[in-house]
Amino acid sequence: MIRNKPCVLWFTGLSGAGKTTLVRELSSVLKKRDARCCSLDGDDLRQTLNADLGFSEEDRMENMRRVAEVSRLFLNEGYIALAALISPLRSQRAAVKSLFEDGQFIEIFVDAPLSVCEERDPKGLYRKARAREIQNFTGVDDTYEAPESPDLHLQTHRESPSTLVRTVVAYLETNELISPN
Ligand code: ADX
Repeated sequence: MIRNKPCVLWFTGLSGAGKTTLVRELSSVLKKRDARCCSLDGDDLRQTLNADLGFSEEDRMENMRRVAEVSRLFLNEGYIALAALISPLRSQRAAVKSLFEDGQFIEIFVDAPLSVCEERDPKGLYRKARAREIQNFTGVDDTYEAPESPDLHLQTHRESPSTLVRTVVAYLETNELISPN
């Protein structure tokens, strides 16, 4: 029995906002429910498929385009693709959305104030950006444009990951993208 419809959940937000954590937890919940899903994490893919790309506007767009195309291959096989990339600009996210059919691209804003992300600083990169050891760091000296009307707005400084994962699962059920339990 098929337990899901193909779609991409596109998680956008600052570094340290919690995209990777949510995708990991969501992936394990979906698998337990026999939904087919795959995770595409910006940080991971920058070690492999996208290792040739930097952080200019053009490279970030190419990063997103490649992840969108890989997602499309998974959608063709009936999967839910979970893509976690900063994807900083509205125009870039709109360009990626246009690669999918109506209703297949779900924009999820993983939101935490910059001050919170900076305090978490899981990879020590905000500290380096403030010390000018790295440049063009999103939120410090490069732009992040928050989505104006995301399909879901998750506030990771207010709710726990498991609560937020339940919110995503409820959204998928309501929109008949996964079968009810
Ligand atoms: S995106 O902007 O092209 O969508 P992506 O999500 O793939 O970014 O990669 C972001 C990750 O790369 C961050 O979580 C961080 O670990 C690392 N990184 C290194 N340099 C930068 C930078 N200048 N800006 C943002 N993230 C950076």
